[in-house]
Amino acid sequence: MLIEMKNITKRYGSLVANDNVSITLKKGEILAIVGENGAGKSTLMKILYGLESYDSGEILINGKPVRFSSPYDAIKNSIGMVQQHFMLFPPFSAAENIVYGNEPRRGIFFDKKEAYRLVEELCRKYNLYIDPKIKVKDCSVGLQQRIEILKVLFQQVDIIIFDEPSAVLAPQEIDNFLQTVLDLKKAGKSIILITHKLNEVMAVADYVTVMRNGKVVKKMPKHETSIEELSYLMVGHHLEEREIEEIEPEEEILAVSNLTKTSPDGVKLLDDVNISVRRGEIVGIAGVSGNGQSELIQCISGLEHADSGKIVLNGIDVTNASVSAIREAGCACIPEDRYYWGSAAEASLEENCIMYHYQRKSELMKNGFLNSRNVSLFSETILKDFDVKHTSSSQSMKDLSGGNAQKLIVGREYMQNTPLLIAAEPTRGIDIGAIEYIHGRLLEKRQKKDAILLISSELSEIIELSDRIYVMCSGRINGEFSRDEATREKIGYLMMGGKNDDEM
Ligand SMILES: Nc1ncnc2c1ncn2[C@@H]1O[C@H](COP(=O)(O)OP(=O)(O)OP(=O)(O)O)[C@@H](O)[C@H]1O
Ligand SMILES: [Mg+2]
Repeated sequence: MLIEMKNITKRYGSLVANDNVSITLKKGEILAIVGENGAGKSTLMKILYGLESYDSGEILINGKPVRFSSPYDAIKNSIGMVQQHFMLFPPFSAAENIVYGNEPRRGIFFDKKEAYRLVEELCRKYNLYIDPKIKVKDCSVGLQQRIEILKVLFQQVDIIIFDEPSAVLAPQEIDNFLQTVLDLKKAGKSIILITHKLNEVMAVADYVTVMRNGKVVKKMPKHETSIEELSYLMVGHHLEEREIEEIEPEEEILAVSNLTKTSPDGVKLLDDVNISVRRGEIVGIAGVSGNGQSELIQCISGLEHADSGKIVLNGIDVTNASVSAIREAGCACIPEDRYYWGSAAEASLEENCIMYHYQRKSELMKNGFLNSRNVSLFSETILKDFDVKHTSSSQSMKDLSGGNAQKLIVGREYMQNTPLLIAAEPTRGIDIGAIEYIHGRLLEKRQKKDAILLISSELSEIIELSDRIYVMCSGRINGEFSRDEATREKIGYLMMGGKNDDEM
């Protein structure tokens, strides 16, 4: 056996994140680990990669007991990991990040040219393309993830751990990624893959381990299980198809007209964008990531300024207004990057829950100070309603599991009760049970005649929820569909730059 983790137990205070967990990995095998948010998947992998200590249990590699005190030890033992959260240096280039720790040198100096060449070669080898010179801070979330993957491949390890590698990738990129995983297996590498997307498990895994509440609940070869069984094991009940009731939309809540934004180097990020969202509607924006969706929601929510055009929200002109003025006018926003825009990692759960709320809710303040009793009552409601698995509301945000952090942000923004909610990738990294719940809440908001602007790289999520869908390509709105007209094929065609009236 290549890797054996035996009876691993890991506690954080009173919380048992891993409870007597055992897993095995054979050489050349792809092992998928699935399970609800907070089940203990990332913790187990951080232990294997030397990032976390453990309280009891044993790790064997090729039958030999090992104990890592840092990732450096793990890499020396041929184990690499692509983590759930990016670990890149934003001001540096892709190549500098990828070769970091193993830099090519000429004499004592860093050989940049050679680094570019090595990275280009690596990209070709694994079919994962990136401009070696691009700065990480200028990369979309999807590209950053790709740099993370290349960085691990550059370490030439034999065992690669992927913690939700596809959560931030666009559908085409996911297909490429899965092919990469299969290619790596063919090249003799062994892989552990954590994912919430069960079709990925079915596409590439040899073996599946299901975790729940810190424990392993079942292990089986992939061919002995199915998506239905796996989702049942994770969620505890069968998921049902949802009937979405038709409702008549009411007055316009958001009108974006002729919005244009050009990057400093002359690229049209937004090219004459016109969209409209009415009360009682969920409007989806589909597109390959990096085609203007991010810029559009950043302009609407006040994080970026447009060069020209107009944004009217709830009857108020909010073009290039401040974030707080826009929120005041009636817009809440679940941002696409939960760590960069969405939360304060070092702050407590309570503090994160009341962000943007305390200015608007008088009961949270008392004589200019926070009313701690009401703050904690209010936070508990969010944490409970959105099922955020936590130990105490004073723990810091960064100690939540990825999916639970996302649920907190969704809950906080939902509870703003604004007439417009921008939901960018609302279910990124969330388990299938919680996705069902969040979709239900979004539909409930629509039922109350609020409006939702939904951006998602999951086309199925857009198609399932949206009453109308705009397709973005190269900064332009390239077409529009009603719920009845929308199909995966038609949307996909426009996403790639095709035209609505082309013969298909
Ligand atoms: N440093 C920490 N301090 C306290 N609690 C922690 C810490 N790290 C993780 N936890 C807790 O341990 C539990 C397991 O977390 P883990 O990140 O392993 O979950 P996961 O299965 O990866 O979930 P997700 O699908 O959401 O990523 C969670 O309840 C989490 O809050
Ligand atoms: Mg995790």
